[in-house]
Order: sequence, then C-alpha cells, then structure tokens
Amino acid sequence: MSRPAPRPMHEPSSVGQMLRQHGISRRAFVKYCTATASLMALPPGLGAAMAQALHGARRPSVIYLSFQECTGCFESFTCSFAPTIENLIFDVISLDYDDTLMAAAGSAAETAMQTAMRENFGKYILVVDGSVPTGAGGGYCTAGGRAAADILTEAAKGAELIICVGTCSSFGGIPYADPNPTHAWPVSAIVGDRPIVNVSGCPPIAEVFTGTLMQYVTTGRIPDLDEHLRPKVFYGNTIHDRCYRRPFYDEGKFAKTFDDEGARSGWCLYELGCKGPTTYNACATVKWNGGVSFPIESGHGCLGCSEPGFWDKGSFYGTLSAAAWGKAGEAEPLHVLGYGAAAAAAGVAVGAGSSVLARQRLAHDAAAAPPAGGPGTHPTTPEKD
Ligand code: SF4
Ligand code: SF4
Ligand code: F3S
Repeated sequence: MSRPAPRPMHEPSSVGQMLRQHGISRRAFVKYCTATASLMALPPGLGAAMAQALHGARRPSVIYLSFQECTGCFESFTCSFAPTIENLIFDVISLDYDDTLMAAAGSAAETAMQTAMRENFGKYILVVDGSVPTGAGGGYCTAGGRAAADILTEAAKGAELIICVGTCSSFGGIPYADPNPTHAWPVSAIVGDRPIVNVSGCPPIAEVFTGTLMQYVTTGRIPDLDEHLRPKVFYGNTIHDRCYRRPFYDEGKFAKTFDDEGARSGWCLYELGCKGPTTYNACATVKWNGGVSFPIESGHGCLGCSEPGFWDKGSFYGTLSAAAWGKAGEAEPLHVLGYGAAAAAAGVAVGAGSSVLARQRLAHDAAAAPPAGGPGTHPTTPEKD
C-alpha cells in the first residue's frame, strides 16, 4: 500500500490546479466529495457543490505535529482500505510539514517547519496527534532539542484552526491514564486561545478526519461541536444509538461469553463490557476499512475509545458501570482552558469547560510530588485549581 509522498514546497495554490497536476479527474473528485457529503449526512447535491467550491479554493497549508503517540492515528489515515479516497486529502491540502512523512531530518526539518509557519502565519491548519508531556521539564518528548509543549505553543500561535486527531491529543489518551507518569495533557489544556476541533478515537476513523477537514476547507467554518469539541455530525450519536445489535439489547438478549450461543447468534455484547451506550463516535455508521466492519460487528464490544479518560474507567470487559462512565450524554467534559472566548468569537458552540475529569486529575497531580520541572513549573502548563 503506497503512502502519500511528501510534497515539495511551493506547489500549486488552488485545489483544482493540484488535482489536474496529479491526474485526478474532476469526475473522481466529485465522486469523492459526494461520498464525503454522504458520510456527513448532507444532501446528495451538496457533494457536487462541495467539489465546485473546493476546486477553486486555495489549498490550505497544514502543519502536522506528532507528539506522545503511537502513530496509530497516522496509520489510520495513510493505510486505510481505500487509499485513493482518503489520500485525496493529501492532494487537497498543502502538507507543508509532517515529521513522520517528510524526507528531511534534523535541522532541515526544523527549517521546513519554521518556513511553513512563517509563510502561512495566521492561515495554516495545525493538526496534532499525541498528548503533550510536561513532566521532567518536557523531556519526555522533544524534537530538535525542544519540548513538545514549546513546539505546540509556538505552532499554535499562527494556526487558524487546530485539529486534534486521536484521543491522545484530544483528551490525553493512553499517556494521560493514571498515574500519568509523563504528566501528559491534551492539546486543549496547553493551548488556550485558538479554535480547536477534536477528532477523537484510538485511532480515529480516517473518513471522520478527512470529512471534518473537507467541511472546514469548503465552508471556512468550524463545524458544530459537542461539549468535547468534537464535530456533532460524526459524534452526535452513541454507538448504541446506531448499533445493528440494538434490537437484541431491547429484547434483553445478551451474549454471556464470547463463544456462547448468544455470541454466535449476534446478540448484544452489553454484558461482555460493550461501552457503546456511552460512546459517541461514527463507527456504527461510517465503520472502518472502507465501511467493511467495526469492532462490534467483529464480535467485540466497544471500548469507548473516543471518550475522555477511557483507560481509567474500569475493565474493558466489565459491564458498563454508570458510576464510572456516566450515562449517555453525560461523560465528563474535558477542561478547555481559556478556549471559551476564542470559540465564542468564532461562533462555535462549545460546552462550558468546567471539567470533572480534569479537576480530578489536577487534584491528583497536585497531591502527587511533581518531578523536577514537571506540571506547574513548565510555562505552558495550565494552572492547577
Ligand atoms: Fe495511538 Fe490511540 Fe493515541 Fe492515536 S489515540 S496516537 S492510535 S494511542
Ligand atoms: Fe449497544 Fe453494545 Fe449492545 Fe450494540 S452491542 S446494542 S452498542 S450494548
Ligand atoms: Fe472505538 Fe468503540 Fe469505535 S472502541 S473504534 S469507538 S466501536
């Protein structure tokens, strides 16, 4: 499976020019846009309108930063089942910096990032995967001798939008799990004054990311977001709301083990730990691998991977506990430090950011002896309250 090749700088500025240069026909592009519009439950005619708008649109500059992550998010986009569709996004955008893909290394890579930020200041989309560790003076994740939090803070200044891909950058993810040894934070806890969209999931679905990006590029508007800054069009329903096993749940037919008659008959996986009732994501509709399947269809319950703190909410195989997971729609909102004003200015519906989870974590961190240079000492570390 081929990966998108890193793009040289100074390529055609319009999407249409770029598509022509890469031999992508208008017809194929309209088809792609129609498929994207369909995923977003937009009327069919909007696919062609989206293609029309995109064709003449300037290619947005994208700077992609990877911090404390496993590269699973990136793999989700680049090794997807239908690369010709998902990878089209790499032709639509101008991927001006990505340390995972780019051939440059060392000082050449640093120069590329500085150039990309300078030339597109105030206009680029910053995509981030991975959480941001602040322990040990930021020493757990550095690039070019600089701490991840410093790089993020600098890159965020010139971003017109930040898209966090994956649960690590959206909510902290695995690195944030108790006891959070690196004192990792989500991007929203570090960056307080830029619009942020979280595309959560561990990893997120490729089409959810590309659809979010396409919508923004087409309309210039941030999509409607839920209280966790996720696009409602993809995160507006729980897995349970759309699950094909739901009739069995309603009938009280539950598999008791992974190999019993109920499991073989496709009964509900609730008693085997499925977190679908409290998990907001598009897996049951968009699915994975080009719409082939999703975890529940493969016989395993949902782990709740797109929700804040999913690693700290008890066993993946324990029956859903209302105490740990809350009821649907009431998962703990993650704190978004200082984000309210920018979001309001951008006309974005953002839930008020008082966070039970983050406050619990902050209290936990405050009680723990921080490592030298850890939380509370880094200049970009949010204040404890
Ligand atoms: Fe890896 Fe999951 Fe984090 Fe993505 S969200 S970087 S897949 S651990
Ligand atoms: Fe709900 Fe999970 Fe059962 Fe599907 S398998 S109906 S998401 S509890
Ligand atoms: Fe994650 Fe659940 Fe989907 S575990 S991949 S949100 S079905």
